[in-house]
Amino acid sequence: MRVLSGVQPSGTLHVGNYFGAIRQFVRLQEENECFFFLADLHALTTVQDPPRFRELITDLATGYLALGLDPARSVVYRQSDLPEVTELSWYLSTVTSMGLLQRCHSFKDKVAQGVVPSHGLFAYPVLMAADILIVKSDLVPVGKDQKQHLEVTRDVAASFHATYGEEVFVLPEPMILDDVAVVPGVDGRKMSKSYGNTIEIFGPEKPIRKKIMGIVTDSTPVEAPKPTEDNALYHLLKIFAPNPEEKAWVETAFAEGGVGYGDMKKRLFDYYLQTFGASRARYDELRGDPAEVERILRAGADTARETAAPLMDEVRKAVGIH
Ligand code: ADP
Ligand code: TRP
Repeated sequence: MRVLSGVQPSGTLHVGNYFGAIRQFVRLQEENECFFFLADLHALTTVQDPPRFRELITDLATGYLALGLDPARSVVYRQSDLPEVTELSWYLSTVTSMGLLQRCHSFKDKVAQGVVPSHGLFAYPVLMAADILIVKSDLVPVGKDQKQHLEVTRDVAASFHATYGEEVFVLPEPMILDDVAVVPGVDGRKMSKSYGNTIEIFGPEKPIRKKIMGIVTDSTPVEAPKPTEDNALYHLLKIFAPNPEEKAWVETAFAEGGVGYGDMKKRLFDYYLQTFGASRARYDELRGDPAEVERILRAGADTARETAAPLMDEVRKAVGIH
């Protein structure tokens, strides 16, 4: 199968990005033809500070590689290095109704959070459809928040087919894993950089430990059983527990009591280091070699452009441009 997904370089990579998306990327590359990119054009809808933007792009590219995206197996590239994406996005725009975009939750949510309601933000799902359709992806692994954007992608592709009478696109399926569809943040809401409730994957250990120790919990005493519903600490422990024995330990600790929240948080921090220790070391190493990261992105862009070329020919032909 052909798999594609992307993450915006709009903030520091966090645990929600990993379990909700990037871990699936790493697994999928074992047996599929994969395309993973940095959605830098999308990020311009929220980051408009060039030096910071450049830094975020390097951070994300380094993070992708450190977490296990393997350029020998996957095509890793930067969206803006594939200019055909913006061209395709325009053709798609002309067959996308305003109403379809007006129904998108993410636009409304972002505007409610104070993001400028620009045309770019409004048209965001069309550019995302272009990302997906341009390499004829079958499967798109994402977190639950992106589900609607996948529906839009299918609608837009179908609308193009209906308008031009030619089936040039593959209609993609989302891949959303139930148990990590919404990874909670330290305050119990969905972990998201816009809520300031994230646990970062990279960066100094001390503030990360502090964030984990600061996860909001109730006042159940040490010896009592603990509630699991809407309990961010419980969900994070379950998500992080590295093996069935540890998962069973978490269940027992909550069901039987006797383990305080403080000790549970310490265990969560141990899991965190087990999960990310090797990637964190690799990240520091790669940070010292930005030229290598750049080389990988450029090579990825060459492959992505070659892959996109025949589809773009078909699309131009379908609309009557050539
Ligand atoms: P944020 O919400 O922090 O802005 P992004 O929108 O950049 O994160 O998300 C990048 C990828 O990570 C997407 O596939 C998204 O669905 C996934 N993701 C982000 N936060 C979470 C979360 N809390 N739980 C599950 N998946 C998430
Ligand atoms: N909108 C996605 C997010 O915020 C990022 C993204 C852009 C994407 N284009 C994509 C994800 C194509 C999957 C496929 O997380």
